[in-house]
Amino acid sequence: MQFVIKNGTIVSATEMYQADVAVADGKIVAIGKDLSLEGYDVVDAAGKLVLPGALDVHTHLAMPFGGTISSDDYFAGTRAAACGGTTTVFDFILQDFDEKMVDAVKRRDALCAPDAAVDYAFHVGVKDVSGDLLDSMEEAVEFGVPTFKVFMVYDFGVSDGVFYKVLQKSKEIGARISVHAENNEMVNMLVEKYISEGKTSAWYHYMSRPEFVEKEADERAISWAKELNAPLYIVHLANKGGVEAVTKAKDEGYEIYAETCPQYLHFTNEVYKREDGRNFVCSPPMKGQESQDAIWDAIIRGDIDTVATDHCPFQSYEKDWGKDDFRKIPNGCAGVENMYPYMLSMANKGKISFQKAVELCSENPARLFGCKDKGSLSVGKDADIVIYDKDKEFTISVDNMHSDCDHTIWEGAELKGYPVQTYSKGRLVFDNGEFLGERGWGKFVKRSLK
Ligand code: URP
Ligand code: ZN
Ligand code: ZN
Repeated sequence: MQFVIKNGTIVSATEMYQADVAVADGKIVAIGKDLSLEGYDVVDAAGKLVLPGALDVHTHLAMPFGGTISSDDYFAGTRAAACGGTTTVFDFILQDFDEKMVDAVKRRDALCAPDAAVDYAFHVGVKDVSGDLLDSMEEAVEFGVPTFKVFMVYDFGVSDGVFYKVLQKSKEIGARISVHAENNEMVNMLVEKYISEGKTSAWYHYMSRPEFVEKEADERAISWAKELNAPLYIVHLANKGGVEAVTKAKDEGYEIYAETCPQYLHFTNEVYKREDGRNFVCSPPMKGQESQDAIWDAIIRGDIDTVATDHCPFQSYEKDWGKDDFRKIPNGCAGVENMYPYMLSMANKGKISFQKAVELCSENPARLFGCKDKGSLSVGKDADIVIYDKDKEFTISVDNMHSDCDHTIWEGAELKGYPVQTYSKGRLVFDNGEFLGERGWGKFVKRSLK
């Protein structure tokens, strides 16, 4: 299929300009003023913004976690992504014990390939580096998965020694480590304390994982990365002290990257006092206003590199398991459909520029995670394109979302502007509220950081 998107305003990470975009065979083939190409259909984008599709580098689809499985499978999660202007989704695979990293990738790819509606990539969540498993990271890199995550928390979290080994290995093989940074001992101690005092509501999920629990782990993880001179990416950064540690490390010249999530930019810990507070339970939890302000400031000065969602939804009945005991609430919230619309709405409301929204949600994720065909509207790149109507008012409701989850923490949030069309490799997959994609359209994105 060949078409040209005419009369729109193209947004990149650095500029906004009027030009037409021509697409053929899934690729962008020309960009210029007044393109007139024979045999090309015309899509009129007058008055609209034309943006590169977003890359959500942090999702958990069909992930076994918290005694259940996250409620969006590869189809539902990628369908929701497409309807929110996200055209590449990164999923975290959890390595099994005694499983080679590349085998974990192949195991998950077999599930994902038939179902994905937009392109997808993987990170491996590392659990076991015993024997030759540490060396097996290299095969995963060669397969096109050069990014690994270590968890400092949860029952599958790694020890300090494993974290150190993985960081060291990553340097040798052209990989990069991401870290979920919270102090596990502190969390366990605080959980035990509150439960023993009969304090069991969702508020005590926050109280067990307050600001310093995350800050301390951020600082410790950064100190190891500095010591080894290894790049490190901090996922879902949500606290002021951690932001300060990232800023300092960057100023000192270290390759420390930080991701935050829309939920930390929009909600504070006050949500855990709500009757439906358990629906907001995720780790790290939303923090206080000071942390939220610090994250926005860091975005504006350029110390946050990416925004991603940590999409990990659970149904209401699963969240309800923890009505009287916050320990039983599966951790995670839906968000993959909300990221780009929320960040673009914040741009439309004047908090950041549209270029900044594109930088955080598309260009930086593509560059930092080695997706060379993604991240901007340029000739030769995949035609992953979003047409955005700045004037469309949109109120988020579970009824206009496309996830399989039966609720959304974003219920009632009012957005200024909304995507009206999403193209995945030149195919229209979302049109004015309607999903038009199909299972299996999305393909594995082989990546390299070299
Ligand atoms: O609460 C969360 N974030 N659930 C998903 C797993 C993780 O920590 O990223
Ligand atoms: Zn995490
Ligand atoms: Zn996560």
